[in-house]
Amino acid sequence: MRGPEVFARIARRYDTLNRVLSLGRDRSWRRRAIAYLPPGRVLDLGGGTGAANPDLGDRQIVALDPAPGMLALNPAQRRVVAYGESLPFEDGAFDGVFSAYVFRNLSSVPGTLQEIHRVLRPGGVAAIVDLTRPLGRVARAVNRAGTAVVVPTVGMLAGARREYTYLHRSLDSLPPPEQMFSGGPMRVEALWRMGLSGFVYGVVLRKE
Ligand SMILES: C[S@@+](CC[C@H](N)C(=O)[O-])C[C@H]1O[C@@H](n2cnc3c(N)ncnc32)[C@H](O)[C@@H]1O
Repeated sequence: MRGPEVFARIARRYDTLNRVLSLGRDRSWRRRAIAYLPPGRVLDLGGGTGAANPDLGDRQIVALDPAPGMLALNPAQRRVVAYGESLPFEDGAFDGVFSAYVFRNLSSVPGTLQEIHRVLRPGGVAAIVDLTRPLGRVARAVNRAGTAVVVPTVGMLAGARREYTYLHRSLDSLPPPEQMFSGGPMRVEALWRMGLSGFVYGVVLRKE
């Protein structure tokens, strides 16, 4: 099962489950990254149901997501069904790009970073938040054991065990963010970890 198919199946339960699994912290983790975004036109890449919209303030939001079922619940005025790896926008079309809890689902992180770089104006900023594994060996093992049990159990209670087993596995699909964003097409302006043992990261990338 691929990312968009998973989210198509859990769209109506997604916001509640996300809130439960993050113990209500998902919003403050998003906000910390949003604080770096300039005003103006912002692409919410993998915007889903629009959970970030209230915190994006009066920026002009273009919400993009490949899962029409998620996007149908998104109140943003401009909604586009598409993949991050192939953005249907002109070069330099955005002042900022925001993306929360999406990068683990991409089929190509380098391809998506190239596309974000292309659609940002010079000086534009991308702010990204996602889950990762803690850096320390012990913390990583504890975190892996925790998500192997907790995430599918909460998913099962919500009638979506298979989908949430996918989410657990996706956490091991990428290198740590410190490695993943270095040497890319944009300069890393800030990178931080938050949450228990640093299992959530935020990164701010600037197009020079
Ligand atoms: C965990 S949800 C996050 C939704 C929203 N950003 C939030 O903060 O609540 C992940 C979203 O990424 C979307 N997605 C999956 N693969 C994608 C891709 N290749 N490009 C863009 N979005 C993708 C899914 O359809 C889903 O809506």
